[in-house]
Amino acid sequence: MDSRLTTRILPAGEEAAALAAQVIQDGGIVAIPTETVYGLAANAFDGPACRRIFEAKGRPQDNPLIVHVADEAMVELVCKEVPPAARRLMDAFWPGPLSIVMKKTERIPDAVSAALPTAAVRMPGSETARQIISAAGVPLAAPSANRSGRPSPTRADHVFHDMAGIVPLIVDGGPCTVGVESTVVDVTGETPVILRPGDISAAQIAAAAGCAAVHTQTDGDGNAAPASPGMKYRHYSPKASVRVFASSTSARDITGAYDAACAMGLRPVILCPQRSLLRYGARRVRSLGRGAGEAERAIFAELRGADERNDDLVLIEYADEMGEAVKDRIMRAADTGSTLPHGQEQDVQKGPFCVPARLAESRSPS
Ligand code: TXA
Ligand code: MG
Repeated sequence: MDSRLTTRILPAGEEAAALAAQVIQDGGIVAIPTETVYGLAANAFDGPACRRIFEAKGRPQDNPLIVHVADEAMVELVCKEVPPAARRLMDAFWPGPLSIVMKKTERIPDAVSAALPTAAVRMPGSETARQIISAAGVPLAAPSANRSGRPSPTRADHVFHDMAGIVPLIVDGGPCTVGVESTVVDVTGETPVILRPGDISAAQIAAAAGCAAVHTQTDGDGNAAPASPGMKYRHYSPKASVRVFASSTSARDITGAYDAACAMGLRPVILCPQRSLLRYGARRVRSLGRGAGEAERAIFAELRGADERNDDLVLIEYADEMGEAVKDRIMRAADTGSTLPHGQEQDVQKGPFCVPARLAESRSPS
């Protein structure tokens, strides 16, 4: 622990961008803000530097990194060819929260692409992020700046919590304006395939790409490797146990789970849409706001906040208006036993409330 380096937090601006660029050019890694979540960035052409990202996060090597560019010229250094559908998506959504998987050039090392022949590329909407990329003069490989498996960071203090002593610099750009990671879309086949839902929806992508519909790749069913390797890992988990319920569920299912947890001496909390706050009486309840945008901005901070407040159990009321991206993130944070209506369940089983196994385990961080 004593050999850990000092982590500086600098407000976004020219000084921070210059310092971040210096660290990156020297083969180091820095945490930077983007409009989606904070990223842990290194020179995307520098294999050893990118391998350091995996070490810092404790991330499995087979999960490739997204490459961030500041302008069109950088895209040519990263991608062998830009298919027409990709061009239309870039015109519609860049700069912004959309990562596009295309064939990569030889300049992108295997450490970035996890040895795939492709790279996911995005031009972030955050001006600070683009300023840092431009100052570094190279595309930046950057996954979310959390320790692997933890909720993604949407504020500089979230990054500090996970990365203090591990990275030399965190550039503080304030709270992320989107709040969930970019939509990832693969355009290497005939029809675009959404590999990870985000703020930009499947319908928006189909309209912009000029196709009737796009496919959505869900988690692998064991027959084939998931097209987006990161989707197969458990994600976004606070130390607390997480259960998801559909809004259409009777409030009594949720209050029953809450009250049973209290009776066991546990500390539960309910997260729900603003309009449901009154369903839960005097119980501990926190709002995820109104609609998808507010839920996206709130969800990761709420999952992290549960740990800060020493909550044991997070009961989430999910409503359709919170959108696909939030549904995906909470279902992957959840323990089995979560309930969503027919057709929405993933590894879900219905049943009476029981204490999830994880609560019986040691609560020390991994
Ligand atoms: O919004 C974001 O995308 C944030 C910010 C920092 O830009 N980054 C981010 O990176 O979420 P990360 O590493 O946490 O997630 C990258 C996702 C993973 O699911 C990974 O498997 C997928 O993108 N991915 C990356 N390259 C890929 C490729 N060549 N083919 C398929 N999936 C890829
Ligand atoms: Mg991530």
